[in-house]
Amino acid sequence: MAKFPDGFIWGAATAGHQVEGDNVNSDTWFAEHTTPTLFKEPSGKACNSYVLWREDIDLAKSLNFNSYRFSIEWARIQPAEGEFDEKELAHYESIIDYCIELGLEPIVTLNHFTSPHWFAKLGSWINPVSAELFATYVTKVMQRYGSKLKHVVTLNEPNLPPLLTWVHMPDFVYELTAANLKAASEKAGVDNYRLSNVVRKDEFDAMGDGLEAAHIAARKAIRAAAPNVKLGLSIAIVDDRVVGDDASLRDRKREEVYGRWLRLAKDDDFIGVQNYESVYYDGEHAIEPSPDVPRNGMGSAIDPTALEGAVRYAYEQTGVPVYVTEHGLSTTDDTQRVAFIKPALVGLQNAIADGVEVLGYTHWSLLDNFEWIFGYGPKFGLFDVNFETFERTAKPSAAVLAEIVKNNAI
Ligand code: BGC
Repeated sequence: MAKFPDGFIWGAATAGHQVEGDNVNSDTWFAEHTTPTLFKEPSGKACNSYVLWREDIDLAKSLNFNSYRFSIEWARIQPAEGEFDEKELAHYESIIDYCIELGLEPIVTLNHFTSPHWFAKLGSWINPVSAELFATYVTKVMQRYGSKLKHVVTLNEPNLPPLLTWVHMPDFVYELTAANLKAASEKAGVDNYRLSNVVRKDEFDAMGDGLEAAHIAARKAIRAAAPNVKLGLSIAIVDDRVVGDDASLRDRKREEVYGRWLRLAKDDDFIGVQNYESVYYDGEHAIEPSPDVPRNGMGSAIDPTALEGAVRYAYEQTGVPVYVTEHGLSTTDDTQRVAFIKPALVGLQNAIADGVEVLGYTHWSLLDNFEWIFGYGPKFGLFDVNFETFERTAKPSAAVLAEIVKNNAI
């Protein structure tokens, strides 16, 4: 059996808004309840994890993991600009403490797309004051929990909007985006209601600039409040490959989608890689996979070897250790996930064997959950969730990953 490095971090991830339910002070909740909305359905109670979080951590433990990645909802901690909610600070502290009690490292994401409603009313990351506002929240959180944490993710996939212009996104997304933002602005009584998971194309750069400034401010805040914590940001990386000898299109994509974030990560402690697919490019186009190649729920070819390529690329570009903060498969057929996990991890081992420093692997997701604008349709979980009873049931793929984790080897 080929071993993973000692101390390799194994886990699964969730994100607050996608699992907790009733995130009523958030920007995303507001956008979901605006007409028209980009969201297929509202998040509602999600997986009811705000109540069932202990059970979720028990599930993570049952798969032999030694970590659990989750996000803190800024909108709960700071429901109004000048106000921190002690009850909510204590809530997330209980989650952190329970993880530690069970021997799971709590891996905290400080911002997983969602922000408070009041922050969206100010124009979100487009407002130059946003980085400072984020840093105030980060300082509060890190002063409170910093001594209990080892790895923190500042921002989740700040590069997602530009990436989505290069992958299979249904047309309705762009048509509705502007309408949703306009309606939200009117409803909130402001000029520019903005949020980082409903972004107009003409504002990608401004959003990116704001998020970059926010990461830099958060890095400073974390290092001041909790100097022992390792920090990084997580970016979505497709394994972008070239057919033939013209790499110009692929390289243009890389610069547009990952360039600034990989440069930024050079001053961090790790780079979080989130990979779901590979794409081939010739000099002019993305090449459609042949029709007989099985597709995932996102419409792209199922390709377990994509993880290795994304990880190698991130390491080559940044030189900092890679932490796979998300990897998974959208499918309603768990036999596809069963077949997917092991070859992806063999690829990760190949990269490690070649000297790529990899801190750990996090599967997305622990649970089937609220998949943003697509609602409850897509299934990424190792556990199925009954959205009426909130009962969780392990899928066969959960046992496959649990066995690898138990052995720390394949
Ligand atoms: C995000 C998750 C999302 C997953 C699957 C990533 O883009 O971080 O929130 O659910 O991919 O789409």
